[in-house]
Amino acid sequence: MANYNHMRIAVFSTKSYDQEYFEKYNEEHEFHLSFFETALNTSTANLATGFDVVCIFVNDLVDKATLKILSTIGVKLIALRCAGYNNVDIKSAKLNNIKVVRVPAYSPEAVAEHAMALILTLNRKTHKAYNRVREGNFSLKNLIGFNLHGKTIGVIGTGQIGATFIKVTKGFGCKIIAFDISENEKLVSLGVEYLDLDEVFKHSDILSLHCPLNQHTQHIINENSIALMKDGVMIINTSRGALINTADAIEGLINKKIGYLGIDVYEQEENLFFEDLSEHIIQDELILRLMSFPNVLITSHQAYFTKEAMDEITLTTLENIKSFKNNLELKNEVK
Ligand code: NAI
Repeated sequence: MANYNHMRIAVFSTKSYDQEYFEKYNEEHEFHLSFFETALNTSTANLATGFDVVCIFVNDLVDKATLKILSTIGVKLIALRCAGYNNVDIKSAKLNNIKVVRVPAYSPEAVAEHAMALILTLNRKTHKAYNRVREGNFSLKNLIGFNLHGKTIGVIGTGQIGATFIKVTKGFGCKIIAFDISENEKLVSLGVEYLDLDEVFKHSDILSLHCPLNQHTQHIINENSIALMKDGVMIINTSRGALINTADAIEGLINKKIGYLGIDVYEQEENLFFEDLSEHIIQDELILRLMSFPNVLITSHQAYFTKEAMDEITLTTLENIKSFKNNLELKNEVK
């Protein structure tokens, strides 16, 4: 069992705000923290030589090959500073005797509120109005929206974030239908109607994705599911990019089946998101096509990014590492 006096932690994919929060909350732990800007993957794994723990985020890729290197150089713990763990090969981690911990719920409100921000912006076009007024253009042409009140919202995945999102939408007077592999009775008593997935696709004016990415949910939004949807449907994805087959969504936008698309996550986001690429030539043809639609709104994985969520993420990550250090039960272990 581990018993380290001085835990050495390699923090990958570090941005200035990550470092700021970790340094603030590490004062009481006094862990040895080293910050790397680069993402963790097979080419960078050797940077973790001499460290007990690697701390990673959503776009670090910890596959079988990376885990083999981490195991060889003596890393014993992967501390995810996020909820989703689709980027870590959990089976291989176990085979390599590396434990994996995460932050299962830091602020479902942060993500749920951002999903609503995407809906409101796409619907009422406040981003366009802001630019127009700054240029002295007070015209309302093409700014028309629709009332959310009375509309049907389909929620796929009613866990922490989905349930919080449902409570937010209730305040707008929406009808909520949902699909999840396990139903939440509390939500049923709030008036949520669970339906088969296809029925949710058929009846929703707005669809919001809040399920994890796994082999069953990858490309859950595809040519076939889009065909079932109402004409002009709004699709919101704040969960994981690969829930949507991007090429199929583009086709749906071109033939006007999809009326609005709001995404905080994107299939190939690891090559783009969190970076300032304003002086680079972007090579990703699919995102360029998405960016060209007037009814598509893209944010770069910022749904989690509130002060409250950053506090909780940092505190829980350091607590997870402390439990590991002290050989205590790892209550946030991914098994
Ligand atoms: P959770 O584990 O509380 O809820 C997930 C729900 O999805 C559960 O109710 C589960 O039964 C359901 N589910 C599992 N497989 C399903 C399937 N095949 N079809 C339908 N439902 C299924 O997770 P939480 O905290 O609500 O987070 C959801 C997702 O949101 C995470 O997996 C993560 O990918 C994403 N996320 C995105 C963030 C962002 O900044 N954009 C931040 C945090 C999470």
